Amino acid sequence: MSLAFQAEGLVKRFGKTTALAGIDLAAEQGTVLGVLGPNGAGKTTAVRILATLLRADEGRATVGGYDVVRDAGDVRRLIGLTGQYASVDEDLTGTQNLVLIGELLDLRRRDAKARAAELLEWFDLTEAANRPAKTYSGGMRRRLDLAASLVGRPAVIYLDEPTTGLDPAKREDMWGVVRSLVNDGSTVLLTTQYLDEADALADDISVIDHGKVIAHGTPAQLKQIAGGQTILVRPLDPARLPEVATILGTVAGREPESPGRGVVTVPVDDDRAFPTVVRRIEDAGIGVMELSLRLPSLDEVFFTLTGKPAVEVAA
Ligand SMILES: Nc1ncnc2c1ncn2[C@@H]1O[C@H](COP(=O)(O)OP(=O)(O)OP(=O)(O)O)[C@@H](O)[C@H]1O
Ligand SMILES: [Mg+2]
Repeated sequence: MSLAFQAEGLVKRFGKTTALAGIDLAAEQGTVLGVLGPNGAGKTTAVRILATLLRADEGRATVGGYDVVRDAGDVRRLIGLTGQYASVDEDLTGTQNLVLIGELLDLRRRDAKARAAELLEWFDLTEAANRPAKTYSGGMRRRLDLAASLVGRPAVIYLDEPTTGLDPAKREDMWGVVRSLVNDGSTVLLTTQYLDEADALADDISVIDHGKVIAHGTPAQLKQIAGGQTILVRPLDPARLPEVATILGTVAGREPESPGRGVVTVPVDDDRAFPTVVRRIEDAGIGVMELSLRLPSLDEVFFTLTGKPAVEVAA
């Protein structure tokens, strides 16, 4: 396997702000690297350097073996970039935007039209294809922007917070799109603030904070840092909370907590704990209003890594 992109020791300062303080990022071809971090962590800055849009003060980066500074033109041919802020022309329709980009990429008009139609279909924009982009909702704009970055079938795709502002259904659709891109052999750099998104899509995750990589690993390794998954139970009858707590304590082998009224939670390391809890609660005849197995949030991962909540870290 060879690396699709690699950044080593990137430093970027904006005046007194150090946006990147020496970060390393890399992904094997055909994989997804999740870059996870709170607001201001340096995600977009790193993407812009890898996309040749910004020059690092120190360090180096290559995409497909090409240097982002010396061989910027070669790099641009390999990448698709979706900015956090949409790059489409407001007055053009969805179709016109995509056809225009196709033509700028030297596709023949017929091929550009076919590609535009295919992408609009993919992103559920066919019905809005002939309306000017300025009439699109925020979520539609994000999808059009993503479609725009894929017109040229890039080998390496940067998705900078692609699901921010999308409703849950569209978010799932977007995850499907990312998976198909990777199935087709593309490599994806995905920045996100959501651990569940990185977990669903990424092969490897780099957690960044203050322009530094503070943790790197597979999603499973990262979750372990924050204590694996958490089971949460809310019994219908609050009087039965102590019984629920006893069941959770026995199954998980550690003391459960009560984070809110009427709820009890316990962290678990073992995938089999959840079905066991469900069975025991049923056997005890306890009705439940809420019963879930959830990942640690980005906040919890951050808290474990830095001793501070993500919001505070970002400030
Ligand atoms: N052009 C710029 N001029 C001055 N400061 C900048 C510039 N671009 C980024 N910064 C600063 O660099 C730091 C990193 O910003 P960056 O946009 O990379 O963060 P991010 O992780 O993408 O955050 P978000 O989740 O909010 O998109 C921030 O403190 C930001 O204010
Ligand atoms: Mg950003």
